[in-house]
Amino acid sequence: MVKCTGAYGTPERIKADVHTIFLPRESSIQKKQLAPLEKSQRSVLFTAIENGDFTGKTEDILYLYGQDGTRLLIVGVGEVGKIDSEVLRRAAAKAVKACQKLSAQKLALYMLKEDLLPKTMGLNFATASRAIVEGAFLGLYKYDAYKKKDKGRANRKAQKEEGKKEITDLVLATPDEGHQTTLKQVIEQTTTVAEAVYKARDLGNAPSNEITPDILAKTASSLAKKYHLNVVVLKKKEIESHKMMGLLAVNRGSANEPRFIILEHNATKKSYPCIVLVGKGVTFDSGGISIKPSANMGEMKMDMAGAATVIGVMMAAARLKLPIRLIGLIPSTDNMPSGSALCPGDIITYSNGVSVEVDNTDAEGRLILADALLYAQRFKPRCIIDLATLTGACVIALGAHSTGMMGTDEAVKSLLKEAGDRTHERVTELPVYEEYEKQLKSEVADIKNVGGREAGAITAALFLKKFVGEYPWVHLDIAGTAMLSEAGEYTPKGASGVGVRLLVDALSHWKKT
Ligand code: BES
Ligand code: ZN
Ligand code: ZN
Repeated sequence: MVKCTGAYGTPERIKADVHTIFLPRESSIQKKQLAPLEKSQRSVLFTAIENGDFTGKTEDILYLYGQDGTRLLIVGVGEVGKIDSEVLRRAAAKAVKACQKLSAQKLALYMLKEDLLPKTMGLNFATASRAIVEGAFLGLYKYDAYKKKDKGRANRKAQKEEGKKEITDLVLATPDEGHQTTLKQVIEQTTTVAEAVYKARDLGNAPSNEITPDILAKTASSLAKKYHLNVVVLKKKEIESHKMMGLLAVNRGSANEPRFIILEHNATKKSYPCIVLVGKGVTFDSGGISIKPSANMGEMKMDMAGAATVIGVMMAAARLKLPIRLIGLIPSTDNMPSGSALCPGDIITYSNGVSVEVDNTDAEGRLILADALLYAQRFKPRCIIDLATLTGACVIALGAHSTGMMGTDEAVKSLLKEAGDRTHERVTELPVYEEYEKQLKSEVADIKNVGGREAGAITAALFLKKFVGEYPWVHLDIAGTAMLSEAGEYTPKGASGVGVRLLVDALSHWKKT
């Protein structure tokens, strides 16, 4: 990830290859904002504004060159009263992407003057600077692990010949004095969160031949060592002795052994509120014997996005020293068809005595999450939060712009709702009315693992609910938001790392609940 530092000053005082200025629509404000620029640049810009080539609306972007060779990038942020964190995140992402096309290494981004930030939109110096740094970092993300080796050398050579440089440094500059400490803190925290998002995206984008359950566990372990988290990895024998029957059943058809990963932050702080996160770690979901159609099946390498997010959140929680006891549980396997695979009609009996008829082996996520939810109860948590790319039904209901939220803990649900609005990783609640439960009725077992076409995201959640006991619980179905088929300003196509910013924000505000 690129480096980011804070600075106090204006373009003439700060050294950078490109200076980015965010400009609102209102002309009186534009004048104020542009006052620190050199006269010739200002007059060129005013000509552009007078001609209507640049208005300041959010799509507008303009390059300018000063007499001394300074390069300026002007990015519109729309009407002042409507600027919120998301507008700033997108504007910053747009700026860094535009600069990637130039040959620039050091890029300075200038904060809007503090008195312009609309308090009504939840903005103050800290939230606004956080949004800009976040948008810049996330907008620069690329998954090119497999492109570097072969083409990288050629690319670097070509770049050298062209004299093209890559962005290596960001400077967030403020024209207001007295914010140096806040700025430093914001940059530090945002760097930590963005690194966690990068990690979740990298894990999600990595193909299933690279991320097997064992490799996922090894990655989690090495990150745990690096960031001082406790880690335990259960291998197949231990999974058997813990009677994790769902995980073993789904793993039956696989050539790779399953793993159950346990990460702990503040393990010894028994007085802190204890929250257990559970992440679905299906490293590839072929559907098993109920095999999926081949079109787009490759996307199912991302079926461990819930696990990737839990790893990212644990990493960030440790580095940010969040005053909570946080436990991350990841059941991991792939879901493959073979002569030994789980079959439709098979019955699994879980360690809590609940028997499940497997009607469809493609509804494997809930089967492995059930073991993790049962395991979570031993921590007597204040709340269990699970994240899973669980149902196609949730994708149909909410698409890519909102995560489905279901559960029993009203306080945590509203905390997540607020965090979703702040981070723009929005969540929408679906009900878990008990009337839906009859869709899970089985003739031969206590329940079956699918509830028919209607309300598929809800019946999946109600299946999970059978395994949380009396513990407060929230389920996040990230099937539509974790794997993107279209890029946004700062969310590239592929794994989005959704849930990392949402949960870090929610957990940082935990005291409110
Ligand atoms: N991993 C899938 C859900 C999924 C679908 C995630 C599309 C992302 C995009 C899950 O394991 C699954 O296959 N669910 C089935 C359940 C059905 C058989 C009840 C589904 O949603 O089709
Ligand atoms: Zn499936
Ligand atoms: Zn799946």
